[in-house]
Amino acid sequence: MKLTILGAAAGGGLPQWNCGCRNCADARAGRIPAMTQSSVAVTLDGQTALLNASPDIRAQLQACGLAPPGLRGSPFAAVVLTNGDVDHLAGLLSLREGSAFAVHATPATLDILDQPIFRVLAPDHVRRAPIALDRPFEPVPGLRITAFAVPGKVALYLEEGEPDTRLVGEQTVGLRLEAGGRCVLYIPGCAAIPDDLLARMGDADVILFDGTVWADDDMGRTGTGTKSGARMGHMAMSGPAGSIARLSGLGGRRVFLHVNNTNPVLQPAAPERAACQAAGWEIAFDGMEIAP
Ligand code: MLT
Ligand code: MN
Ligand code: ZN
Repeated sequence: MKLTILGAAAGGGLPQWNCGCRNCADARAGRIPAMTQSSVAVTLDGQTALLNASPDIRAQLQACGLAPPGLRGSPFAAVVLTNGDVDHLAGLLSLREGSAFAVHATPATLDILDQPIFRVLAPDHVRRAPIALDRPFEPVPGLRITAFAVPGKVALYLEEGEPDTRLVGEQTVGLRLEAGGRCVLYIPGCAAIPDDLLARMGDADVILFDGTVWADDDMGRTGTGTKSGARMGHMAMSGPAGSIARLSGLGGRRVFLHVNNTNPVLQPAAPERAACQAAGWEIAFDGMEIAP
């Protein structure tokens, strides 16, 4: 299998339309590379599945050369959703026009699509395929995907009062991808790594993991807001309970994606970026290709 990072940024992208933080200003001026929102393409034997459909999908397909197979038709066979966040499913609205593909998601996430506007994806062309947790399915022949629950919260627009930010169930999943004897884990959103999750990550050849925030207070430190990473349902890269420390015992290639525009690792000379790299982590970028 071959993976292409279509969009390495978290919701909002880099630059984000309403943000003048240092990273966004630098990306706007071309001093650092801009990044589109969270999506990955997986190709096996000429067939492609998208992992999440971001609002930037049209430009992403163009940038990575994913073209229709003929006069009309979808350049991919399936979209697999990991949660109901806007950055992961709003791209579906750009996929109207009556070409066939399948949307794989848990029943909780498929429920979100059960609204009038998503009827633009006519069910006779766009099949809704419910994902059962821990039960493998093949969105394209030979590519085996198993979804598993990771701690997270409901999408921002579904919050009522104070949400449980470490809910474990159907609302936030990670994906285990297997083909040709290789294994990739894709976990773009994760609030914590409990021991049982850590135990299932040990044999992966590549881990693509939630790189939203460097520290819990990235937004406070950049002056862009007061919301913590934990409140957003994203664990920090740094610190004793952070992803770098929690996953330090694992082998394989480790890549941070779903990187928020406020994350200091986006600055080429930042000590935080050097610390990631020293710990064996790569930072994804748009167009990055991975052959596990
Ligand atoms: C997230 O990953 O926390 C969401 O994409 C945030 C959002 O919906 O803006
Ligand atoms: Mn997101
Ligand atoms: Zn910004």
